[in-house]
Amino acid sequence: MAAAFAGVGLSYPVKLSQTSNHPRRRRSPLIIRINALSSSVVEESKKTYTLKKSEEAFNSAKELMPGGVNSPVRAFKSVGGQPIVIDSVKGSRMWDIDGNEYIDYVGSWGPAIIGHADDEVLAALAETMKKGTSFGAPCLLENVLAEMVISAVPSIEMVRFVNSGTEACMGVLRLARAFTGREKIIKFEGCYHGHADPFLVKAGSGVATLGLPDSPGVPKAATLETLTSPYNSISTVENLFESNKGEIAAVILEPVVGNAGFIPPTLDFLHALRKITQDNGSLLIFDEVMTGFRISYGGAQEYFGITPDLTTLGKIIGGGLPVGAYGGRREIMEMVAPAGPMYQAGTLSGNPLAMTAGIHTLKRLQEPGTYDYLNKITGELIQGILDAGKKSGHAISGGYINGMFGFFFTEGPVYNFDDAKKSDTAKFAKFYRGMLEQGVYLAPSQFEAGFTSLAHSPEDIQQTISAAEKVLQTL
Ligand SMILES: Cc1ncc(COP(=O)(O)O)c(C=O)c1O
Repeated sequence: MAAAFAGVGLSYPVKLSQTSNHPRRRRSPLIIRINALSSSVVEESKKTYTLKKSEEAFNSAKELMPGGVNSPVRAFKSVGGQPIVIDSVKGSRMWDIDGNEYIDYVGSWGPAIIGHADDEVLAALAETMKKGTSFGAPCLLENVLAEMVISAVPSIEMVRFVNSGTEACMGVLRLARAFTGREKIIKFEGCYHGHADPFLVKAGSGVATLGLPDSPGVPKAATLETLTSPYNSISTVENLFESNKGEIAAVILEPVVGNAGFIPPTLDFLHALRKITQDNGSLLIFDEVMTGFRISYGGAQEYFGITPDLTTLGKIIGGGLPVGAYGGRREIMEMVAPAGPMYQAGTLSGNPLAMTAGIHTLKRLQEPGTYDYLNKITGELIQGILDAGKKSGHAISGGYINGMFGFFFTEGPVYNFDDAKKSDTAKFAKFYRGMLEQGVYLAPSQFEAGFTSLAHSPEDIQQTISAAEKVLQTL
């Protein structure tokens, strides 16, 4: 396997030489108007980059909501300063309430793969809304999205929609335990599977960012059956199977880690997990909440050619509205109530608005050239950042696959969370604030992946690389 970048844990052939036309270059008059408006505001505000209104709003928010936010990483704790408060988003851009404009590489933490506030998605939502916002009863849109998901994701023969990735992971865990009649699971250090009790052991994302190895309030009993291993270490997994013979219900992993920064798996690791689970009557679960429809249309499982027993999804399949899903082999899924005895339910599950946004987002992703385009711009972006870092004398490593990328301020290679933790997080924080001032919004933590979208233009990428060159020279 060819390494894409020296000293990087990305060991898959990438298709930088493939070119494709930007699949979505249509710009509505609305976007042009907003951009024209905002860039004049930004031209002004760039001269004196100020976050005065954001600061005021966040100070009020801290009195109203814990830490001022409704999800911890948004609070900027690991990069310092206060978060920017967002007013609007469109395409690859977002604007804060002070009028500053940013090229956005967070994409609402993944869903915005066709760009923010896409005109077609908004129009479809407006049509659906005329019929109501929630039925709490079967609707045709559920069938449409279910068929799209089933035909796209190799492991999924039946699917259950829920309202978040956390819910999807909770459901899939109960299902794996119900199907196997076993309780123990293996998860990997730095992998995040939502905030349910059994998964808050050596978890990534906000748990890693805030330096909380576990969370108070999680009863010991809830995590007693959760075994952990370093990512990409099959020998540890073998030992765990050996010492817990016949007791392991499932192995769950992010097939490409995004919640400890971007860490790709080795193909050998994935093959070995598939084999060891099969040999031991355990289930293999790919948590594709982040990688589903991002690493490729059929997710990481299609990209790597490894089919798990069960899969979780979220983010992209809701096109920016709250959604999650779990699915897998029919014989397993038929255990879910009311087809079977494993209980799981949801008032707003299969909500017509989330289904609509998901359907139209997936339709766009089906257009020819989409993943080639993501691959091309993301490759250019990460190569540009790495080159700029090296030119300025920084230890830096990174990688990408199609619409997902990341870099660490360490030489690498980064194969697991311990390797990732060698990154100079103080340097990342300075880099982060510098990029923000340059109009680039990255995930506010070293331990989160970045995302590109079909709305990111080659000019956006070049502008980002120039900003990185400038900031890296100052560190
Ligand atoms: C891999 C993975 N699983 C589960 C979740 C939880 O999803 P949610 O935040 O929608 O609950 C996330 C969230 O980022 C995730 O990245």
